[in-house]
Amino acid sequence: MTAPLSPTLAAHGAQIPALGFGTSPMTGGLSPDTVVAALQSGYRHIDTAWKYGTESAVGEAMRASGVPRQDIFLTTKVSHEYLRADAFAKSVDESLKALKVDQVDLLLVHWPNSEIALRETMPALAKAKRQGLARHIGVANFNIALLDQAIALCPEPLVALQAEYHPYLDQTKLLAAARARGLVFVAYCPLGRGRLFGDPVLAEIATARGKSIAQVALRWLMQQGVAAIPRSSNPQRIADNFKVFDFTLNDDEMARIAALKRPNGRIANPGGRVSGGWD
Ligand SMILES: NC(=O)c1ccc[n+]([C@@H]2O[C@H](COP(=O)([O-])OP(=O)(O)OC[C@H]3O[C@@H](n4cnc5c(N)ncnc54)[C@H](OP(=O)(O)O)[C@@H]3O)[C@@H](O)[C@H]2O)c1
Repeated sequence: MTAPLSPTLAAHGAQIPALGFGTSPMTGGLSPDTVVAALQSGYRHIDTAWKYGTESAVGEAMRASGVPRQDIFLTTKVSHEYLRADAFAKSVDESLKALKVDQVDLLLVHWPNSEIALRETMPALAKAKRQGLARHIGVANFNIALLDQAIALCPEPLVALQAEYHPYLDQTKLLAAARARGLVFVAYCPLGRGRLFGDPVLAEIATARGKSIAQVALRWLMQQGVAAIPRSSNPQRIADNFKVFDFTLNDDEMARIAALKRPNGRIANPGGRVSGGWD
C-alpha cells in the first residue's frame, strides 16, 4: 500500500513537504538503499549538502526509486568556504553533477561565514536561481540579523530558513522571525541527534499515545507548522518516523514538550561563523 504523502508548507511559490529525510554523513557513508527506503516510505523531500558527500548517493537513489523527479523536493547546500561568487557557482555545478540533476528544488547557504560579505554571496545565490539551477533559494544557520541582511541583499525571495530545532532547543524567536518574513522554518536535528530518546516526559507522552519518542518529537514540530528532516539508517525507523500524520498532540502535551528546552540544548555550534551569535 502506498503511504500517504506529507502535507506541504508554502512560501513565495514553493511547496515544501513538511516531513523530509536528512542525509548528513552516517557511519560507513550513505547507502543509496537508505534513501530508496525513505522514498518508498513516502518521503518526498530529501536534504543533502555538498559538505556531506552524500549527493551522488542521493542522486543514485532518486533514479533507482522509480519516483518521478518532479515529485521529489530536493535540497542541497553550498558550504561556508565557497560563499564568494566564483566559488559559489563552482560548488553549485559540482552538486548538480554529483546529483546528476539539472536543477535542485531548494539551494541553501549552508552556514554564514563572518569573513565573506553577504553582499557577495546573496547575488550569487539569486543568480543560481535565475539560471534555473535552483527552483527556490534560502539560508541555513542564520540568526535574525543575518537573515534580514540576506533578504535585503538578495534580488530573489528566500523561501526557507533551515536551523536546528527540537524539544531541547528554544527557537521561539527565530521561528517567529522566519514566519514574519514568510519563510518556511526547516528543523534540522529534529530528533536531537538521538539525545531525546531517554527523555521521561517524551516517553510518557509516547506511551500514552501508543507512539515512539521520535514520532512524538516530529509531531510536535509538524503541529507548529515547521518542516523537519529526520535521518535514520534503519529502514524500519525510516518508515516509522514518517507515521506522524495519524495522531494529534493536545495543548497540554505541546506545552509539556516545549518546556523541555534547556540552555545547553544546542548540538551544532561550530565557533565563529554566526556574527552576533544565536538568537
Ligand atoms: N544545515 C545544517 O547545518 C544541518 C546540520 C545538521 C543536520 N542537518 C540536516 O538535518 C538532518 C537531521 O539531523 P541529524 O542527522 O543530525 O540528526 P537527527 O535526525 O535529529 O537524529 C538522527 C539520529 O537519530 C537516530 N534515529 C532516527 N530515528 C530514530 C528512531 N525512530 N528511534 C531511535 N533512533 C532514531 C538515528 O540513528 P539510526 O540511523 O540508527 O536510526 C541517528 O543517530 C541531517 O541528516 C541533515 O540532512 C543540517
